[in-house]
Amino acid sequence: MKALILAGGFGTRLRPLSCTRPKTLFPIVNKPLLQWTFERLAKNDVTDAILAVNHQTEFLLKQYRIPRCGVRITYSRDPPGKPLGTGGPVKKAEKLLDHDFPFLVLNGDIFADVNYKEIVKIDKKKKAVATIALHRVEDPTRYGVAELDENNRIRRFVEKPPSETAPSNFINAGVYVLHPEIFKYIPENRAVSLEREVFPTLAEDGKLYGHMFDGLWSDIGEPEDYLEINKTLLNPFDTSQKFEERKKVEVKNPVAFDKEVSIGEKSVIGPYTILGRHVIVGKNVHIRDSVIFQNTSIGDSSSINGAVIGEGANIGKEVKIGKGCIVGDHVKIKDGMALAKKVSICPAKEISESVLTPENII
Ligand code: GDD
Ligand code: MG
Repeated sequence: MKALILAGGFGTRLRPLSCTRPKTLFPIVNKPLLQWTFERLAKNDVTDAILAVNHQTEFLLKQYRIPRCGVRITYSRDPPGKPLGTGGPVKKAEKLLDHDFPFLVLNGDIFADVNYKEIVKIDKKKKAVATIALHRVEDPTRYGVAELDENNRIRRFVEKPPSETAPSNFINAGVYVLHPEIFKYIPENRAVSLEREVFPTLAEDGKLYGHMFDGLWSDIGEPEDYLEINKTLLNPFDTSQKFEERKKVEVKNPVAFDKEVSIGEKSVIGPYTILGRHVIVGKNVHIRDSVIFQNTSIGDSSSINGAVIGEGANIGKEVKIGKGCIVGDHVKIKDGMALAKKVSICPAKEISESVLTPENII
């Protein structure tokens, strides 16, 4: 079975970290999101994946050299400067996809613990052109919403409905089984939205089905969601984290440290803290509920609580970083600075004044 992974969008709500990497490359417990997806594909016997990208994402993805877990990868590019939306890339990859069997299409920017084999099995029993994995959420307004009949046929599909009009709490989880007939529903050579154009038509034709699943699911679109999925996935690791310098350092599980992490004495790390490869933490540093990307250094006596720090950042001594702050890649923060709450700092900025109100520093 083949899969097409939609990976050419821009994660605007995760700025400033998404200025320098697509969402598929955000580390989740020190592994790029795309690697989690490859692993899940391999586990479900999917042998070939087509990455629907633009030139920029292709370049960045190739640089990262993510382990492919035995899955063969082909790139399918949107035309330069002409993003094809969520449907256009499916049409564009028509020649690369199967014409006799259904195939999978995945939103590349979500973490979805879906059993692909199961959804394929369910799909086989229906006369569907598309079967969508559905997940229940409290607030469906940020998503595509499905109204189901008693046979799990989707009567109506509405993308991002205003709050009072959402037909249900069952949302499109961004995992589809599509049949080759789908190609007839997608116009060629232009941007097409599966969610706004194709799914509503399929629903009218009675060819759209849903499959509810209740595994772990997260759209890492907002910083809080990003921190939350990292936190959730840390749970099972619990006390297994090894750290050779542990005696001098207080580690409050769960935490995850990648290779070559160094932590100075009297530092208190955790709970819910993820340190990327080659992160250097000084002495007497306190970090909790935070994700620190690779190659970042944090000076003595600093504290970080509930923040995401990009890669290659240089945080000085006695710096305080509060809840909801997002620090871009290669930012330099001078000694003694404080970032109160919800402060975002664009990549490579130098901070030499404290920021005490929620603000975007561009
Ligand atoms: N190649 C390519 N070209 N990929 C694209 C393009 C494009 O022009 N636009 C978006 N994508 C990719 C994104 O990278 C992402 O992986 C996926 O398509 C979905 O696009 P988003 O822009 O992230 O959509 P969304 O998050 O607002 O909504 C979608 O996901 C929700 C679940 O997270 C919809 O599918 C909703 O119905 C769904 O509920
Ligand atoms: Mg999205």
